[in-house]
Amino acid sequence: KKRVAPHESLFFPRAAEQAADPDSHHSIQGEEELNEQMRMIDLTDDDLELLRRMKPVMERNIDEITDRFYNSLINVVKLEQIIVKHSSIDRLKQTLREHIVEIFDGNVDNRYISKRLVIANIHKKVGLEPKWYLSAFQNLQNVFIRVIYNEAFNDTERLTMVQTVTKLLNLEQQLVLE
Ligand code: HEM
Repeated sequence: KKRVAPHESLFFPRAAEQAADPDSHHSIQGEEELNEQMRMIDLTDDDLELLRRMKPVMERNIDEITDRFYNSLINVVKLEQIIVKHSSIDRLKQTLREHIVEIFDGNVDNRYISKRLVIANIHKKVGLEPKWYLSAFQNLQNVFIRVIYNEAFNDTERLTMVQTVTKLLNLEQQLVLE
């Protein structure tokens, strides 16, 4: 099983080398910290590979995932008001769908990270408080885990899939709380 050595950087290999350099660019230091965050949640190549294998299953269930997400959301008056003011359910369902499917491409690179930082900023601008953001993630996670339980081949696969998906959701939350 392929593992990442303690000081090897899975996602931003340049960052580790340059982190020691006092003249290094600020964003590189940010990348090294991201490496540490990903090491801490034990996000490895195996996870990325598994995500890619899970993609068809998630695509098959994407309507249920996004429907449940927005049904729970519009039950909170405050959140419905934010959506009506800044966007629409139909529009957001489409962008959420793309966002979720992209997680299962298993490409956690600079583009992936910065895209999520931009979305976090959009949410800040529309006045979405972190507590609602985190609630929304739990709602997504509930549905993901149920889909996995229904679709996984056996218990071992279920456990691995749940761990992988929760790692990626946790990473999203880390980026939002930056
Ligand atoms: C925008 C994802 C939670 C309200 C977006 C976009 C994405 C996204 C991908 C599109 C950004 C773009 O246009 O490129 C998510 C995820 C969430 C989450 C993954 C949590 C798991 C929420 C919640 C609300 C919300 C709880 C409640 C009000 C909005 C609004 C916009 C938006 C109003 C559009 C802002 C605009 O178009 O100017 N979100 N969202 N989001 N989200 Fe969320």
